[in-house]
Amino acid sequence: MRAILNGRRMRRLRQTDWSRRLVRETNITVDDLIWPIFIIDGVGVRTPIASMPGVERLSVDEAVRDAAEAAALGIPAIALFPYTDPARRDENGSEALSPDNLVCRALRAIKTAVPHIGLMTDVALDPYTSHGHDGLLEGEVILNDETVAVLCEQALNQARAGADIIGPSDMMDGRVGAIRAALDDAGFEHVQIMAYSAKYASAFYGPFRDAIGTSKTLRGDKRTYQMDPGNSDEAVQEAELDLAEGADMIMVKPGMPYLDILRRLKDEFQVPTFAYQVSGEYAMIMAATRNGWLDGERAMMESLLAFKRAGADGILTYFARDVARKLKG
Ligand code: PBG
Repeated sequence: MRAILNGRRMRRLRQTDWSRRLVRETNITVDDLIWPIFIIDGVGVRTPIASMPGVERLSVDEAVRDAAEAAALGIPAIALFPYTDPARRDENGSEALSPDNLVCRALRAIKTAVPHIGLMTDVALDPYTSHGHDGLLEGEVILNDETVAVLCEQALNQARAGADIIGPSDMMDGRVGAIRAALDDAGFEHVQIMAYSAKYASAFYGPFRDAIGTSKTLRGDKRTYQMDPGNSDEAVQEAELDLAEGADMIMVKPGMPYLDILRRLKDEFQVPTFAYQVSGEYAMIMAATRNGWLDGERAMMESLLAFKRAGADGILTYFARDVARKLKG
């Protein structure tokens, strides 16, 4: 044991809490958090999501309340996801372009009531299409360039309603550049883009699809546009393209099973890089906790610390409010 022969005892620094804190390389702070929330029609409505214990769909007024709490806790930004009334979904996801859709109404209400929290929106058609896909479907095929044109309109619709960060999660080729150009042309050059750069075709999105009501309607799967879980080099190419097209920040999704990808992208590009701890990861931790199999709070904190250690500048997590409350003591 060379280290011990050298007088190097690794346990020396681990003896006490003060010493462990002093030498800790990474920490999680409230500044690292983006809180995804789900929006639903109505007033005073909070509906539970069975596969995401502790997470609810919120009507716009309730979302304003939670956004105010998030701001008071110091959470920098929230991300909005709509549960669209099935009657408003169609083949082309046209509700995505309505200035009065749920996301736009929530954006305006939160912007007015809680002006100092960042507002992020998802660009993809899945909450609005009857088939649950992120793009336009022709037969079995998701049309790329036709979809990109609609996504540009969707992004503009969100920017006009007050979105600060546009998050293209659709994985169409060329969408970041097209959205950047559309935003700039319309005077929204200040609006940021966080690209879902390495977004995998993952089983871990299951509970999210319950939350936005696409789990039963999704026709087929998303493997012709989301990435193959076996691939790593492709993530570098996706991120490189998104950055070249004008992305301000990049993201890896899911989170925990893809920490290698996170580390690789951070090392490769040195740009603000985010991890999305997705619904299935949240559900696993919560399910085990509710069964008494895990110490939920410790598992939550450890999972978030792992993202930071792997290179994340921040994390989208359904635990954001719980973490912020805990950090505040
Ligand atoms: C939609 C979208 C998904 C998620 C974020 N945006 C689901 C999907 O691609 O099917 C998943 C988030 C989560 O699971 O928490 N494009």
